[in-house]
Amino acid sequence: MVSNASALGRNGVHDYILVRASAIVITLYILYMIGFFAVTGDLTYEVWSGFFGSAFTKVFTLLTLFSILIHAWIGMWQVLTDYVKPVAMRLGLQLVIVVALLVYVIYGFVVVWGV
Ligand code: HEM
Repeated sequence: MVSNASALGRNGVHDYILVRASAIVITLYILYMIGFFAVTGDLTYEVWSGFFGSAFTKVFTLLTLFSILIHAWIGMWQVLTDYVKPVAMRLGLQLVIVVALLVYVIYGFVVVWGV
C-alpha cells in the first residue's frame, strides 16, 4: 500500500481514483476549449474577455487548474519515487513541483477573477 508523507492521497487506491477523476476534468476542459474555438469565428479581444467573463468558464478554469495540481502532484510523486532514489533530491524536486503547481492555481485565481 502506498503510504508516504509526500504523497497526496491517503493510499494507493485513493491516488489511483484521484488521478483518473482529475484526468477526466482536464479532458472535459480541453474539449470545452476546442468547442469554443470551433464555434467562434473572429477571435477578438471582446469575444475572448466575454468568454472568460462568464462564471461558468471561470469556475471550470479554476476547477481544471486544481485538477492539474492534484493530477501532476500524484503523477510526479509516482515518477520521482520510481526514478529518483536519493531522498533529499527527491523531496527537493517534489517541493519545487508542488510549489509551481500551487503558484499556477493561485495565479489562475488572480487572472480569472481579474476579467
Ligand atoms: C496538465 C496536463 C497533465 C499532466 C501535467 C499530467 C501528468 C501526469 C503524470 C506525471 C503522470 C504519471 C505518469 C506515470 O506514473 O508514469 C500521469 C499519469 C496519468 N495521466 Fe496525466 N497528465 C496530464 C493530463 C492528463 C490527461 C488529459 C489525461 C486523460 C486523458 C491523463 C491521464 C492520466 C492517467 C490515466 C495516468 C495514470 C497512468 C498510470 O498510472 O500508469 N493525464 N499524468
